[in-house]
Amino acid sequence: MTDPAEPLLTELHDLALEAARRAGALLRDGRPDDLAVARTKSSPIDVVTEMDIAAEKLITGFLAEHRPQDGFLGEEGASSPGTSGIRWVIDPLDGTVNYLYGLPTWAVSIAAERDGETVVGVVEAPMRGETYHAVLGRGAHAGDRPLAVRPAPPFDQALLGTGFGYLKIRRERQAEVVRQLIPRVRDIRRGGSAAVDLCDVAAGRLDAYYERGLNPWDLAAGALVAREAGALTGGRPGEPESGELTVAASPGLFGPLQELLEELGAWHD
Ligand code: IPD
Ligand code: CA
Ligand code: CA
Repeated sequence: MTDPAEPLLTELHDLALEAARRAGALLRDGRPDDLAVARTKSSPIDVVTEMDIAAEKLITGFLAEHRPQDGFLGEEGASSPGTSGIRWVIDPLDGTVNYLYGLPTWAVSIAAERDGETVVGVVEAPMRGETYHAVLGRGAHAGDRPLAVRPAPPFDQALLGTGFGYLKIRRERQAEVVRQLIPRVRDIRRGGSAAVDLCDVAAGRLDAYYERGLNPWDLAAGALVAREAGALTGGRPGEPESGELTVAASPGLFGPLQELLEELGAWHD
């Protein structure tokens, strides 16, 4: 059982905040006007820029300097087990396509896990001027402001967020799920950053969010922020959130949404 007052958690939180602040400033102030795609990953639309790589280098360099025994899992390649029981899970730039096009919804996402459990999450969204952060058991905040999910509306008045993967076959299925969902809810948003979507649930700016195909670095920090703001998070019914499916919602909406997503097959391609 984690003691929320533990000094180690404060240390990890402070380091994550500082690393995210520095990377956010680098991405905001250092974005070249002629920013180009450096390489592609799973498909031609799954892109990486030089700034994704520079931001991950900054974050891992800063954290390793302060905590050399910790492990890393970063989207742009950082991978080491460490020996301290702490592992940093990092998406240096979540929302790369928005960043490439100059849209404002992108973020730096940094989580610290202890023995596999997320204990700290920071999502820095520079173009919003907001930093969402949480420590296990201490609640979630945007800056100093405590975050709380919105009371669940009737299902047909819920505003949902979602996202789409980079593979054609997955997107076809995701579009089919959206086709069936949209007549049953208020509306659906596709913001372009899973980390920000999860924080928007925490802040009461979305009633719920779901997506198939996330990686640990997309969801680790934002899911803790959402939970600490009172959201429930999970995957298919009875399962934790994962690449198969991630759902986050106010408690009154979570069960019905999970059941409907199960029925619509949102968990498979
Ligand atoms: C992506 C974003 C997007 C989500 C994708 C992610 P990236 O991360 O979070 O909103 O729909 O599934 O891969 O590639 O911008 O780091
Ligand atoms: Ca991401
Ligand atoms: Ca990324």
